[in-house]
Amino acid sequence: MRPRLPLRLPARLLPALLPALLSLALGACRPAPGPRAFDYVIGVSMANLTEPWRINMRDEIMAETAHHPDLRMVFTDAADSSARQIQDVGTLLDSGIDLLIISPNQSEALSPVVAEAYRRIPVILLDRSVVGFDYTLFIGPDNRLIGKQAGQYVASLLGAGGGKIVEILGRSGSPPVLDRSIGFQEAIAQQGNITIVDTLVADWLRDKAEDELTSWLKRNGPVDVIMAQNDAMADGARRAAMKLGIQGLRVVGIDGLPGPGGGIELVKSGALAATFTCPTGGKEAVISALDILHHEEGIPKKMILRTSLVTRQSIESGALATFPRPLLPSPDHRIVLGFAQVGKESDWRLANTESIKTAAREAGIELLFRDGEQKQENQIKAIREFIAKEVDVIAFSANVESGWGEVLREAKAARIPVFIIDRPVDEKDESLWVSLMGSDFVEEGRRAARWLIGYLNTGKPVNIVELQGTVGSAPAIDRKIGFEEVLSQYPNYRIIVSQSGDFFRSVGREVMRQILRDLAASNQRMDVLFAHNDDMAIGAIAAMEATGLKPGKDVVIVSVDGIRDAFKAMIAGKLNCSVECSPLLGPQLMKAVKDFMSGKDLPVRIVTSEVVFPAQVARAALPSRKY
Ligand code: AHR
Repeated sequence: MRPRLPLRLPARLLPALLPALLSLALGACRPAPGPRAFDYVIGVSMANLTEPWRINMRDEIMAETAHHPDLRMVFTDAADSSARQIQDVGTLLDSGIDLLIISPNQSEALSPVVAEAYRRIPVILLDRSVVGFDYTLFIGPDNRLIGKQAGQYVASLLGAGGGKIVEILGRSGSPPVLDRSIGFQEAIAQQGNITIVDTLVADWLRDKAEDELTSWLKRNGPVDVIMAQNDAMADGARRAAMKLGIQGLRVVGIDGLPGPGGGIELVKSGALAATFTCPTGGKEAVISALDILHHEEGIPKKMILRTSLVTRQSIESGALATFPRPLLPSPDHRIVLGFAQVGKESDWRLANTESIKTAAREAGIELLFRDGEQKQENQIKAIREFIAKEVDVIAFSANVESGWGEVLREAKAARIPVFIIDRPVDEKDESLWVSLMGSDFVEEGRRAARWLIGYLNTGKPVNIVELQGTVGSAPAIDRKIGFEEVLSQYPNYRIIVSQSGDFFRSVGREVMRQILRDLAASNQRMDVLFAHNDDMAIGAIAAMEATGLKPGKDVVIVSVDGIRDAFKAMIAGKLNCSVECSPLLGPQLMKAVKDFMSGKDLPVRIVTSEVVFPAQVARAALPSRKY
């Protein structure tokens, strides 16, 4: 196929040219029906097209587009101006694009126009996010994590003796600058003997970094490490040190681009001590855009791309950026997946199990399913059984967050890839699994609190009872964090009791019965129940009714999951709100397993797209609920 060229139009020409392009796209110019040249026009609004990393992003988008004859890309270049990018988006929208891909110059400034675009068409955010959730999908790296990994690496480079660092930042106000710096400084702060002696700003530019650092080194003398927020600035820093004849200064960058002058080459030649790959997500954006335009189900809200440390050693050993991939014995080999489930605590879990079993069957994957019966040791035993049976892939949902390192290392040593679904683990080494897919539990807690505050809209004291999930599990820990984070801005809201109901309906009922007795004995009032899942809320509702309380009226109840029974309770006026947490992860997991086995790189984190259901929408929404 002849590679199709990107259209890179100056924004002022777009209104004139796009209607023609779009009428062609829609077949309006054709004399007779026939195959269209392309079915979809995608507007790609770039913050700039001058930085090597962004040029790489554009090239990746075009390389992937070349595989899809039904797509046409129209690029705009905001030349680092938010005002100009706002105009670009307006022009693209007025011209009738089908989907917008945007890498915002600045988050806050671009948020309103992105929200406006999202009201009209799907929007994919690339690399940088906006304020709020008015977009279809975010694809990008976790910049805070990159900064943290860089800090940990620099600490290991300096060793016990410690040392002095100068940090060189990209352009002020650009979102990765703050995130990378916070992550870096957090990691360094844990080392008593390392000091960040100064922070320079070089706007992502090599020559500016060289000039700034040259004058700094002249004034202050040598340091041990330069941490630059991209490879171009790292290269500039290295040049400054060379020019001044400074020996032994180690320079670390971020980006890890391939090709001439890219970070990989700079590390290979010894110019940089290390860099961190920072994928642009261009390819993933095109693939996801097509999925969205084709109305595929299960489009996630966020795809966080994997970053890896690149050193000379990792390049030479071939370990760079690739998770060890097992070789399938033959192309028609039936993939065997071992899945270790948490248990059967809730309707959510039953729906999750069903989703996994059905999706495996439909995908032609052989599933070895083990029920952990709420015990971590059973799950670990199951994973060891899968390793012994030499399954192709292992997946599991972690009953509790901690204590998985050993068994995950055993799986890695056996070269069996692991997928974590639903509940994350608290292991630092992300190379122990391929991908983590599931909900953002912290955000679910925040959503519950935001809904509550909007609903009650009061400055009077509000007494809250919290029913937590399983002690030590990620959803219990994170939902509490998110809920309390929002409440901390409203001192009149107070959690007066917080106990675990273990995510079981029956335990929720028992625990609530006891709480009601205790509150009565101490003459305290409960205004609100926040339950970490719907099942516990439904159990608590039964306990309240047994004492004559009217749940949903005397006590406002908000819980998490969005199971069918919660909708029925909302319709009956007994539950006020359910925050969605989707268990339907089976199809996503099977697709990821197959993609991985066929050689594709996967995001390290895939966050499910979810919403909030207040009681007033329950009746309309119930018929379409799938769990
Ligand atoms: O991990 C997801 C949680 O586990 C669900 O919210 C809860 O119902 C389940 O048991």
